[in-house]
Amino acid sequence: MSNKDQAKTPRHVAIIMDGNGRWAQLRGRPRLVGHHAGAKRVQEIVEACKPMGVKYLTIFAFSTENWKRTQTEVAGLMRLFKRFITAKAQELKSKNVRVRFIGDRVRLDNRLQDLMDNLELMTADNDGTHLTIALNYGGRDEVARATKRLAYDVAAGKLDPKSINDETLPKYLDTIYLPDPDLVIRTSGEARISNFLLWQSAYSEYEFIDTLWPDFTSDEFAKVLARYGQRDRRYGAVKA
Ligand code: FPP
Repeated sequence: MSNKDQAKTPRHVAIIMDGNGRWAQLRGRPRLVGHHAGAKRVQEIVEACKPMGVKYLTIFAFSTENWKRTQTEVAGLMRLFKRFITAKAQELKSKNVRVRFIGDRVRLDNRLQDLMDNLELMTADNDGTHLTIALNYGGRDEVARATKRLAYDVAAGKLDPKSINDETLPKYLDTIYLPDPDLVIRTSGEARISNFLLWQSAYSEYEFIDTLWPDFTSDEFAKVLARYGQRDRRYGAVKA
């Protein structure tokens, strides 16, 4: 199979869901209204994955930098995450979606952490779409936390520094159970990575799309996937 054939459908799609605030602003509404509209799209895109052949979906819900937003917005987002998990848990379970979270949980309140743990447990036997939600996630923070754990293993004599290579660190990352993303999509016209999956996206294709996240439909998702199918991924090699 050539690289081109492998590229037809991305196995793992990661999305930076940007533009909720501007979507609300355009309508003269508070930013949180945009986040609620964004949550509805999350549901639609998760459901679109199976028929479109996407096995892994990873979405950036809250970054380590998002704490800098106003207290009102941060509190509103945290309430939204709790409400989303509570309202959707049963449906995600019955639709065979396996949900996992990446990011540093310790800064999240206990109630939210419990809901996250519970949803992971509830869906642990599912083997349909693998949904990973990045919550209090930052790529640099993830690499720093991974490095700390790796250093502890070296100090404890469990890991020989001489054996460390580029396959060692990924075993300490939050994403240990995930393949690297084939495609990273960012909505709302910004062409930045914003600290998302820094290690994992070394060879990912990127799509920067003008649509604001609350307007990103499953039809547009299908078009983006079709464009991906036309790309020629070479991973640094020359064309076959
Ligand atoms: C970026 O838009 C979006 C966020 C920081 C939050 C993402 C959250 C959701 C889509 C809500 C639901 C998610 C789940 C998992 C239930 P922005 O606020 O930066 O928009 P702007 O750039 O227009 O200000």
